[in-house]
Amino acid sequence: MSNSPAQRYARLLQEVRRHDHLYYVQAQPEISDAAYDRLYRELVDLETAHPKLADENSPTRKVGGTPLDSFRTVAHALRMQSLSNTYSEQELTEFLDRVEKNLHGQAAEFAIEPKVDGLAVSIRYENGLLTLGLTRGDGEKGDDITENLKTIRNLPLSVPDLPPRIEFRGEVYLPEPAFAALNQTRAKKGEPLFANPRNAAAGTLKLLDSREVAKRPLAIVLYGLGESVGLSLKTQSELHQQILSWGLPGHSWFRHVHKPADVLTAVRELDQARTKFSFATDGAVIKVNRFDQQKVLGQTDKAPRWAIAYKYAPDQSETRLLSVTFQVGRTGVITPVAELDPVLLSGSTVSRATLHNFEEIARKDIRVGDLVRVEKAGEVIPAVISVNLDKRPPQSKPICVPRQCPVCEGPLVKEDVFLRCTSRDCIGQLKRRLQHFAHRGAMDIEGLGEVMAAQLVDAGLILHLDQIYDLTQEKLSALDRMGDKSAANLLAGIDASRRRTLGRLIFALGIPQVGAVLSETLARHFGSLSALTKAKVADLTQVKDVGEKVAEEIVAFFQESASRRLLDALKKAGLNFEALPEELAVRGGVFSGKKFVITGTLTQPREDFIRRIQSQGGSVAGSVSAKTDFVLAGEEAGSKLEKARSLGVRVISEKEFEKLVGQKTGE
Ligand code: IVH
Repeated sequence: MSNSPAQRYARLLQEVRRHDHLYYVQAQPEISDAAYDRLYRELVDLETAHPKLADENSPTRKVGGTPLDSFRTVAHALRMQSLSNTYSEQELTEFLDRVEKNLHGQAAEFAIEPKVDGLAVSIRYENGLLTLGLTRGDGEKGDDITENLKTIRNLPLSVPDLPPRIEFRGEVYLPEPAFAALNQTRAKKGEPLFANPRNAAAGTLKLLDSREVAKRPLAIVLYGLGESVGLSLKTQSELHQQILSWGLPGHSWFRHVHKPADVLTAVRELDQARTKFSFATDGAVIKVNRFDQQKVLGQTDKAPRWAIAYKYAPDQSETRLLSVTFQVGRTGVITPVAELDPVLLSGSTVSRATLHNFEEIARKDIRVGDLVRVEKAGEVIPAVISVNLDKRPPQSKPICVPRQCPVCEGPLVKEDVFLRCTSRDCIGQLKRRLQHFAHRGAMDIEGLGEVMAAQLVDAGLILHLDQIYDLTQEKLSALDRMGDKSAANLLAGIDASRRRTLGRLIFALGIPQVGAVLSETLARHFGSLSALTKAKVADLTQVKDVGEKVAEEIVAFFQESASRRLLDALKKAGLNFEALPEELAVRGGVFSGKKFVITGTLTQPREDFIRRIQSQGGSVAGSVSAKTDFVLAGEEAGSKLEKARSLGVRVISEKEFEKLVGQKTGE
């Protein structure tokens, strides 16, 4: 394949446009900011080297794509700009020099603040009331996401003492612990995971139903101004302080330096401090502090001349891709996994990384044998981000897209960018379903974890979930390294699971979209599995937290013949299908009407606490607000604990929880 500059330019142009569209319009980027910035940079370099090639509508000349169709589009009163980026201290120094030069010898002061890795929004308050919230869109006009923004817990709907009309610019993000929890829930439901907190926040803000948005604990930080009337602030550092004293979410970490020479020190200091923030930070933003000087400096088409983003290097390493394996999830989604030559990354040894999906593999042209770059940002699962084409070995082999399920050879369907095995009898799915069924938070079968689930399926002892209950000592003795004692223990665990609560059973069935909390609610509402199986969409939407979509999933699940067969068999095996007295909300229970938030690591599965709180008339929410009554905090509790403290919400330990329950109920 020849690679003339013109050809490279055309391809690159197309690439960058595609990513702009994914990022700005679909709010669903496929690559990290760092990877995007590299492409963008290459485009700029080519345009500089070959000015004749440069397309007059190149993405380097404007901010981004067009807004989504589904929200009302509103023009920004003042254009929302982006920032120029740099990864090098040298370029940062050049920026500082340029500023001084353009100020014609006037001394410049700078403000240094965190670059939050989230989504830019503009928020208007009129007469102290939040009246409009917009996405950046293409910079000129954005989507009206007012209702979604109003759900953000740390954003007040009314603020006394504000000027009559003021617009703030800020960044919406999903705090890291909430991101981890969201992905955990998605994993349990067999839904594809978000690659990072930014994607999760983008996906959330894009939801049309603000009630759904409200369920995810988004947060915001404000750092700039749009159009405002009657404001006498003179500098960025005053703005930061003023935002905080209005009671709005602002940056409490920022530095004001008087000499360009001190900028770098502040940037390095921030690199240390940022590990403790509840939001992901991928860089520092350096702004000329005085607004009058900002005005003198002005802006280019794309970005202001008075600010720059200095991005910290993400944690990356290069290693050899040894092979690719395929993981089949509970719902059949197939994830290609890179098996790597082990490499140190962000303090841990990584030998596997996600390749996301087959479209990504094709787009990055990843082959077995290649040297690949792996990246890990924050809590995110490691991912392969690019290939070192210069070092491609001649014997590298393309990765074949499976035409059938790699586990069961069943048919695959394409859903969005994912491949999904549709076979009912796929043993890959079965292993995951079995693992979920037996999980501590579901039927809690001791001794039946990931390894045992795979062994049972591989040995042909379990072809359908209900066959768990047909296992005998004799059958189990056929398994490798299965002594009499372990077999007896496993059988005892299986027997005990017959008497689990209805809520646990509903959760264990693995109905799409139905997690532990909803399972409990359904158990309480319907009282028996037979009542739930008969429920129509209209009956289900009566239940708190059940929307149309979830209701349809539940109805569809119970209509499937495989589900019916499973339920019949489980009934015959003697499983409890009725709500137990302890599951039915105790009127006047210890926690009647109380709202809980659970955080940190506890000694028992979280689902157990949820059940116990609900059985005592309480409810459990995902994030802390002024309405929260108790935060039950385990080990290593993070931002929720902080938030509870700052709001004065009562924080209790597991021990205190037990005491509260014990005292009142004599448990
Ligand atoms: S100022 C005219 N300050 O980074 C200046 N942006 O890469 C506009 N961002 O579009 C932005 N933290 O979404 C500014 N402290 C901060 C920021 C920040 C994050 C985002 C913002 C911007 C993007 C540019």
